Amino acid sequence: KNVVSVGLLGLGTVGCGVAHIIKDHQEELQHQTGCAIHIKKALVQHLEKERDVQLDPSKLTLHAEEVLFDPEIDVIVEVMGGIEQTRQYVLDALRHKKHVVTANKDLIALHGAELLQAAQDNGCDLYYEASVAGGIPIIRSLVEGLASDRIVKIMGIVNGTTNYILTKMSKEGATYEDALREAQELGYAEADPSADVEGWDAARKMAILSTLGFLTNVELDDVSVQGISQVTAEDIAYCSKLGYTMKLIGIAQRDKGRIEVSVQPALLPHDHPLAAVSNEYNAVYVYGESVGETMFYGPGAGQLPTATAVVSDLVTVVKHMRLGVSGRSMVAPLYDKQLKKDEE
Ligand code: NAP
Ligand code: HSE
Repeated sequence: KNVVSVGLLGLGTVGCGVAHIIKDHQEELQHQTGCAIHIKKALVQHLEKERDVQLDPSKLTLHAEEVLFDPEIDVIVEVMGGIEQTRQYVLDALRHKKHVVTANKDLIALHGAELLQAAQDNGCDLYYEASVAGGIPIIRSLVEGLASDRIVKIMGIVNGTTNYILTKMSKEGATYEDALREAQELGYAEADPSADVEGWDAARKMAILSTLGFLTNVELDDVSVQGISQVTAEDIAYCSKLGYTMKLIGIAQRDKGRIEVSVQPALLPHDHPLAAVSNEYNAVYVYGESVGETMFYGPGAGQLPTATAVVSDLVTVVKHMRLGVSGRSMVAPLYDKQLKKDEE
């Protein structure tokens, strides 16, 4: 097959970025995969909305089945967000033998094991690099780059919106409300920004990273969560005077066989490496028994960084299609289930 057709579910901040990169980097994509990649259809909610994207308007549809069940579409890129309806769309896509790439951490944190199982059962790929830390390839790094190590601790800033808000409040004296509004205008925030400011988005990402890093199913309910919605400008100014920077930090560690995962605002000395991570940038520190300390840094939210991760997953999927090795995605969340099955 020399042409791969993609169906987009969603054409908002990330979806438009995906369309842009597929068009603008077509030559690089063809070199990497040996295929032309094009978008055949995109599911949206509002046909008339103005979009910053060069895509023939006839490709937009309000009907999911036109994307999910189109026999010519090989890969579904899910960038619409949401949980229940999206879960059903992704399952439908996999059952119709379509590979899936998603940026949706809510979906993966809650239903990752089920969806990865469905992908495997149907011989399909399911990739989700963009679901954690935007443009930082942290999932690949954990699943592939550090695969031989025993991970002991994962810690970091994994939400761009709250980091943007805290940076603007501490460095520019912005109000919480203005900083949040800016983060929304810049496309960093979730559709419902309480997911960001209450720490749930970071908790979902920490659940995914812990599952992958510690090779055991970490459920969202296992994560203790506190956000930044109660933090005031006075709190931040006071911390700063004492020599501390406030950051929303996720911490996951293995301790005597137990795994503890939490998200909360933390005070870091100004010279701490994570204190220097500003705006929408993220950083993830991973400590492995053999490798020691590693640190991954980059843009954690925003159109093109996130779309880079999505399209890179797409490249992997297309390479697998060409090599005939689809259906062997990142299987770590299945680990527990598989072990239990083997024991029965
Ligand atoms: P967005 O700008 O709100 O875009 C969502 C898109 O999905 C829009 O095109 C919308 O259609 C469409 N849509 C939403 N619900 C739909 C439904 N029920 N039926 C049909 N179409 C629907 O969101 P986004 O920022 O691109 O985020 C998309 C996903 O990527 C989310 O899962 C998010 O968590 C994840 N993500 C985002 C970022 C980021 O920086 N923004 C980073 C990493 C991951 P209309 O355009 O017609 O309204
Ligand atoms: N709302 C998310 C954030 C998008 O601000 O980090 C990236 O996952």
